Amino acid sequence: MSKEKAVDQVKLMDKIVSLAKRRGFVYQSSEIYGGLNGCWDYGPLGVEMLNNVKQQWWKNMTYRENVEGIDASILMHPRVWEASGHVENFTDPMVDCKQCKSRYRVDVLFEEMSVKKKKDVLRELEPERFGGQQKDEVIVEEFEKIASGDDAMTKILTLSSCPNCGNKGTFTDARKFNLMFKTFVGPVEDSSAAVYLRPETAQGIFVNFLNVQSASRQKLPFGIAQIGKAFRNEINTKNFLFRTREFEQMEMQFFVKEGTDDHWFEFWRSQRLQWFSDLGMKKEKLRWHRHEKDKLAHYAKDAYDIEYEFPFGWGEIEGVHNRTNYDLSRHQEFSKKSLEYYDEESKAKFIPYVIETSAGASRSFMAFLVDAYHEEQAPTAEGTTEERVVLKLHPKLAPNKVAVFPLVNRDGMPELARKIEEFLRPHLRVFYDDSGAVGRRYRRQDEVGTPFCVTVDSQTLQDQTVTVRDRDSMKQERVSTERLREYFAAKLL
Ligand code: GAP
Repeated sequence: MSKEKAVDQVKLMDKIVSLAKRRGFVYQSSEIYGGLNGCWDYGPLGVEMLNNVKQQWWKNMTYRENVEGIDASILMHPRVWEASGHVENFTDPMVDCKQCKSRYRVDVLFEEMSVKKKKDVLRELEPERFGGQQKDEVIVEEFEKIASGDDAMTKILTLSSCPNCGNKGTFTDARKFNLMFKTFVGPVEDSSAAVYLRPETAQGIFVNFLNVQSASRQKLPFGIAQIGKAFRNEINTKNFLFRTREFEQMEMQFFVKEGTDDHWFEFWRSQRLQWFSDLGMKKEKLRWHRHEKDKLAHYAKDAYDIEYEFPFGWGEIEGVHNRTNYDLSRHQEFSKKSLEYYDEESKAKFIPYVIETSAGASRSFMAFLVDAYHEEQAPTAEGTTEERVVLKLHPKLAPNKVAVFPLVNRDGMPELARKIEEFLRPHLRVFYDDSGAVGRRYRRQDEVGTPFCVTVDSQTLQDQTVTVRDRDSMKQERVSTERLREYFAAKLL
């Protein structure tokens, strides 16, 4: 990315964050106290839109014959996290700058190092191999490989400068930092009372596998879906809602017989990508990233991420993983309770394989918001053009579905407009606005993604028709007030 483009992308992200705050989508948590890093609050329009994202996911995933829903608790027995491997492995290597006390995740520090610096470091480490002219891609790739070894990591750290104070060689040794938040149940704060805030929702599904299976009388293959909060004590939070300490996940574990796992893996990959594009996300902004075999989690057979191209670069919004029978086997081992499934057809007992789809609700929300943001030229009443900011959100995700305006505040127009608002409100989220010029009212609704605006004008008083203006095309058509409900039902529900 050129320097100018990078600056434009930073500005674009700033504009989106500023709109999100100004129009009541997202605020910094505890802002009046200076904020709490990595935590965000959803305002009136934000909570509506986030609920729409979650509702669309829930409908898409659980309104199927072979997927059940669940809502497990955030606090779980501490042994759950030993079995899942989180106590031992859910760690990031972390360093502090001894000079300015800034703290960094080592992988993020390395990721953000310039290619030139990476080249210098590689030359210093292996002058024979990297003395010549290598392409930037080769440098980045080789650096990543070399830096993942413990010894090389220590050496690279001594050659690196702190991004905050600029001093070189001031980093402490890397140490492991567990990302789980710890708390205590009951009044005594000792280790026997320690529990964790869940870092993923998936484990609540695994431990309930047989409960759900027997209550719902499901047979393999079937899935269990859940939406809920997850918490990670991220060392570096960044990029608005992208990496936060408190966030929501939308996860589904699909239990299958070994041998059918590759088929279901492909099935769910295609379903999940389709979901994002069906909700209007631009296809060219979505791509798959396959985890390389040597980078797969030890239990995973295959893993792909759906990535979205944010203004700051490509980032994962969902993972689709073949987790084998690892999780259920570990819970069986640690709980000493059988988690085997009895297959009536083959009369055999076995532990199923799991295909997981794991999306961030908050990260998807941000991707939808970014994708919908447009700045374009729009005609004015005076025959000129002006810039309009418009959120081209899919109508199913838009927080308000319809705005109703009287053209002027006289001649019975406000009363009629109020009647229309009342008539629509039980079915749709409606916003009433009678202040300012109608053009400005359109702009205000464009900026928050309201798909349709209804205006009551003098013709309405004659023939009971209103203008309905489409957000994206800005075209207007006259619709009889009697037909409004069915008109919007066809377009929005
Ligand atoms: N159960 C598998 C799992 O949790 P993950 O890749 O760690 O996998 C899944 O997380 C999704 O959760 C990610 O694709 C992302 O959308 C979201 N996510 C993870 N960490 C996050 C964070 N710190 N802030 C916001 N969203 C996050």
